[in-house]
Amino acid sequence: EKSGNIQTRPPVVTIMGHVDHGKTSLLDKIRATKVASGEAGGITQHIGAYHVTTDRGVITFLDTPGHAAFTAMRSRGAQATDIVVLVVAADDGMMPQTEEAIDHARAAGTPLIVAINKMDKDTADPDRVINELSVKEVIPEEWGGDTPMVKVSAKSGMGIDELLEVISIQAELMELEAPVDGAAQGVVIESRLDKGRGAVASLLVKKGTLNQGDLVLAGEYYGKVRAMTDENGQRIKTAGPSIPVEILGLPEAPAAGSEFLVVSDEKKAREVADFRAAR
Ligand code: GTP
Ligand code: NA
Ligand code: MG
Repeated sequence: EKSGNIQTRPPVVTIMGHVDHGKTSLLDKIRATKVASGEAGGITQHIGAYHVTTDRGVITFLDTPGHAAFTAMRSRGAQATDIVVLVVAADDGMMPQTEEAIDHARAAGTPLIVAINKMDKDTADPDRVINELSVKEVIPEEWGGDTPMVKVSAKSGMGIDELLEVISIQAELMELEAPVDGAAQGVVIESRLDKGRGAVASLLVKKGTLNQGDLVLAGEYYGKVRAMTDENGQRIKTAGPSIPVEILGLPEAPAAGSEFLVVSDEKKAREVADFRAAR
C-alpha cells in the first residue's frame, strides 16, 4: 500500500568504465545536449552530480571518479545508484576496469546498460566489444540477453538520445519511488573545504525533502544548511528525492559516500556525531 506522499522519483545513474573510455566526455555531451543554456553566468559548478530533463522525464547522473565513489557508497551500504551505464570504448574493448565495473554492478544488483563509445573512430569495432562482454555473461538483448547496448560517440553526439531513452525505459521498469515529505535522507557525493565558504558538500537526496535551515547530520559532522544551490549554481530552498544539491553549513567536509540525514534537534545530532567519531 502506498502512503499518500510516495511519488515516482528520477533514476540515479552512475557512469563507470575503464580509464579514458570516455565517461566524462559522455557526461559532458549529455549535459551540453540536454541542459538549458541559461546557466547562471555560464558557470557550471562541479558538484559531482547533475540532472537532465528529457522528453521522458528527469535523469540524475553521478559525475564522480566512478569507481571510487561507487565503491565508497557500496562499502557504506548506501545504495545511491539505480542504474550503471558502463562505457566501453569501441576501439579498445574490454579492459580491467570494465570487468571490475561489471562485477560491482552485479554485486550491488544494479542493472547495467552498455554504452559502446567512440563509434566515430575508424578503428571502432563494436562487434568485438559485444563478443568480449558476452564472455563475462553480459549479453545484448538482440542475442536474447537482458543488457541494453547502445552505440554512441561522445564526440559526435551519435546515440546520445537513444542512450537517454534506454535509461528512461529501464527506470520506468524499475518503478522507482520515494517519499517526498518528511526529513531528508541521502548520501554525500563529494565534499571539500573552501577557503571562503567553509565546508561545501554535494548531497544526493534519496528520501524526503531537504530544506534550507534544516539541521543535517552527515558522517561525523552536523550543521544547519546555510545555503543550498543546484548544479547550475542557482540558489534553491528545497530539494526532493534524487535531486543533487550543494550545501554550506557543515563544520568539516564529510567523506564521500557517507550517509546524511536531517535531525530534529542538536542534542540528537551531537550524540550520533560523537558516536560515529568514536568508532
Ligand atoms: P578517466 O576519467 O580518466 O577514467 O577517463 P574518462 O573515461 O572520463 O575519459 P575522457 O572523457 O576523459 O576521454 C578520454 C579521451 O577520449 C579524451 O581524449 C576524449 O577526447 C576522448 N574521447 C572520449 N569520447 C570520445 C569519442 O566518442 N570519440 C573520440 N574520437 N574520442 C573520444
Ligand atoms: Na580521462
Ligand atoms: Mg573522467
